[in-house]
Amino acid sequence: STPSLLILPGDGIGPEVMTEVRKVIDWFGAKRDLAFDVSEDLVGGAAYDKHGVPLHDDTMARAQEVDAVLLGAVGGPKYDELDFSVKPERGLLRLRKEMDLFANLRPAQCFDALADFSSLKKDVVAGLDIMIVRELTSGVYFGEPRGIFEEGNERVGINTQRYTESEIERAARAAFELAMRRNKKVCSMEKANVMESGILWREVATRVGKDYPEVELSHMYADNGAMQLVRAPKQFDVILTDNLFGDILSDCAAMLTGSLGMLPSASLGAPMANGRPKALYEPVHGSAPDIAGQGKANPIACILSFAMALRYSFDQGDEATRLENAIEAVLASGARTADLMGPEGGTPLSTAEMGDKVIEALDQS
Ligand code: NAI
Ligand code: MG
Repeated sequence: STPSLLILPGDGIGPEVMTEVRKVIDWFGAKRDLAFDVSEDLVGGAAYDKHGVPLHDDTMARAQEVDAVLLGAVGGPKYDELDFSVKPERGLLRLRKEMDLFANLRPAQCFDALADFSSLKKDVVAGLDIMIVRELTSGVYFGEPRGIFEEGNERVGINTQRYTESEIERAARAAFELAMRRNKKVCSMEKANVMESGILWREVATRVGKDYPEVELSHMYADNGAMQLVRAPKQFDVILTDNLFGDILSDCAAMLTGSLGMLPSASLGAPMANGRPKALYEPVHGSAPDIAGQGKANPIACILSFAMALRYSFDQGDEATRLENAIEAVLASGARTADLMGPEGGTPLSTAEMGDKVIEALDQS
């Protein structure tokens, strides 16, 4: 049956970049005979304006049914004073929570044409293609006990790092499944030298690894991992790590490759009846109120998020590569949105012009 896709453009530049993704989706339908059953709905401030809540129950129900959800961004100054319970980000949090998206995928991919943009030397990052899998629903951000308590004559702030075997196992499985579609290497990062949860993490990752004999598993202390990511990131393929370390390591990896306007992400949950994992794809960036409505946003992060959907939800790895290669070709031709312009300047492309360039490159693929 036709694969289904729910599109939630959201707020700010979300709808602007999503318009360009729609062109790409239409192109695959028309030129590659890859039809999607696409529906579109509201999330974030846009949903609040219409329904008084940042995610309507009907939208939530639809998100649970479809093969993949593609989200733009939520939030903006207009909603800053709202009560926390109806803030735009609550819409996104509800999606993540109710879909139980426990594995957050953050690729760090360096397009050669942008290697100069990296914070690092060009040869350290040129051709870089790694994937960080961060456990997203447990660990120290959620563990109990937590709170600020009186202790003697002062206060103590407490958070608890807590992982069950099954929580580690499902994140690890997601990482190994990904590695099977990539370069068959997983590096698991924890701090088994000083943390009990780290000891268990290493043990479970090793056990899960036995189910994937083709994948080479290594272990690294997360602090060394941070160093290695900056020193020689190309040694990695898939990095598996917990919520806290993953938060930091993925932001660090993001800067290996340059602009926020280029970074896609995915969050995956348990397999559905059809074998596909529940999935939400979104650019890493937010709604960018400073440039919203001006046609300046870079649509590539959102387009690359769709490429991830092609690869990880729709089993269209070759078509995903086609799309990524088209983007590489566009960048190699010198086309740049404003966020990708160096100090040498030039005339930046608008959001729509960048989308059109990607379509032209697809036509030539
Ligand atoms: P942001 O990512 O929206 O913007 C940070 C900076 O990067 C801005 O200068 C922006 O213009 C630029 N930028 C971001 N995406 C770009 C793109 N595609 N092309 C060109 N330039 C781009 O983060 P910020 O400013 O901290 O947050 C703004 C709003 O977005 C807030 O309401 C925040 O809560 C929300 N937000 C939403 C997220 C989501 O929907 N997942 C994630 C992060 C923030
Ligand atoms: Mg972070």
